Amino acid sequence: MVLIAPSILSADFSRLGEAVKLAEDAGADLIHVDIMDGHFVPNLTLGPRLVEAIRRETRLPIDVHLMVENPRAFVPLFHEAGADWISIHVEATAHLHKDLTMIRDLGRKAGVALNPATPLESIDEVLTELDFVLIMSVNPGWGGQSFIPSCLDKIRRLRDRIRAARLTVPIEVDGGIKLDNVADILRAGMEIVVAGSAVYDAPDPAAVIRAMKDIARKLP
Ligand code: DX5
Ligand code: ZN
Repeated sequence: MVLIAPSILSADFSRLGEAVKLAEDAGADLIHVDIMDGHFVPNLTLGPRLVEAIRRETRLPIDVHLMVENPRAFVPLFHEAGADWISIHVEATAHLHKDLTMIRDLGRKAGVALNPATPLESIDEVLTELDFVLIMSVNPGWGGQSFIPSCLDKIRRLRDRIRAARLTVPIEVDGGIKLDNVADILRAGMEIVVAGSAVYDAPDPAAVIRAMKDIARKLP
């Protein structure tokens, strides 16, 4: 089943509660929250208090994407704030296995995120420790960038690797996903769709969420 995860990075931060409720009412499955530390990526965004506030506004699972160095130090804070899914970047930790185990031991879904230039081999040894993989289809740091076309083949290759290992780890894709390319990315193997600017920059964000769900439902 395909899940739609609107990224609130592109929402109006002065009306975050409304943005989250709108997504839930439109049929979103997860709320994607981008955490940036100004070191791992050049931008700074949100912290645990914002996640706590979002937690109060929705019953949907909160999908926290940690674009931070030393993710181990932050996992407990976001766990306490109410995150349900937590992804950490393979490039940001020397102890990936240990950090993923920590997330699972806290009872949360553990994901690993890969930057566009990071090879799939980097997660071979932890595939069995994962609840999802997050493929970055832009260089992380900002919303509103264009999908990097070579990521399509990377998604296909990851799907093949997961199948070959007889696992069922869903692939989340993040960056540059719009109504006009979502079908191609789904066909390549994406199961969790992150969409920020496509949703929140649109005049009718709910209509975009519904349209994405519709496209996913109609795919053979
Ligand atoms: C980028 C973030 C994304 C971002 C996606 O670093 O990880 O989640 O919000 O935004 P769009 O969908 O506009 O590319
Ligand atoms: Zn993200």
